[in-house]
Amino acid sequence: MAEIKGDCGALIAPSILAADFARLGEDVRDVCERGIDYLHIDVMDGAFVPNISFGSAVMKSLNGIATVPYDVHLMVEEPIRYIGDFLTDNTEFITVHQEACKDLRGTLRAIHDLGVKAGVSIKPNTAPEVLDEYLAEIDLILVMSVEPGFGGQKFMDNSLPKISYFRDKREELGFGYLIEVDGGIGSANANLVIEAGVDIIVAGSAVFKAADRTAEIRGIKGIEG
Ligand code: DX5
Ligand code: ZN
Repeated sequence: MAEIKGDCGALIAPSILAADFARLGEDVRDVCERGIDYLHIDVMDGAFVPNISFGSAVMKSLNGIATVPYDVHLMVEEPIRYIGDFLTDNTEFITVHQEACKDLRGTLRAIHDLGVKAGVSIKPNTAPEVLDEYLAEIDLILVMSVEPGFGGQKFMDNSLPKISYFRDKREELGFGYLIEVDGGIGSANANLVIEAGVDIIVAGSAVFKAADRTAEIRGIKGIEG
């Protein structure tokens, strides 16, 4: 999958969780003009994770503003109930948690039936092998590098061997999924996940709170200079 990364180390998906919600449209327009690849949409239900963020209406309010596709991360119990709400012309990935689905295979099928790509995320204490039997049906694997629920947490380096596990499996068995990592990443540590083999880096606080967002985005993507 290295070809999709072009001349950078990884693609970037800024999480709007760290944006200024009173100026969400302006913040999204701003980062879209600075060379990002996806917008990461963190949806939290107060049940699967101990926090409530926002729902599909907030995401849809950005439809006329965002110029990159949505990468939707559902931190929601039994997300199959809500996936249809997140379908828009901008939606490229809908990602659910392995730990939140009674029927993961059926949930992946329901996402594909909507005509979008299906992602699966695993929490820091979930072993990568739990996804072995689903790898052929997954378009995106999202490795959590913090406990899901909050932005601004410290990066957990037990994510690194998991990223490499999925990279090696893909190479060995010829799967087509992309690998994404989420939580506690900025330009100071992005090289670690790039070296482990990630394709897409989620970054919330590091991008939206940066004094120079363009420099931070380029730093996270591993663009020299
Ligand atoms: C955590 C979310 C992340 C997080 C990223 O539950 O899924 O996307 O907000 O934010 P930072 O980059 O601030 O850790
Ligand atoms: Zn996320």
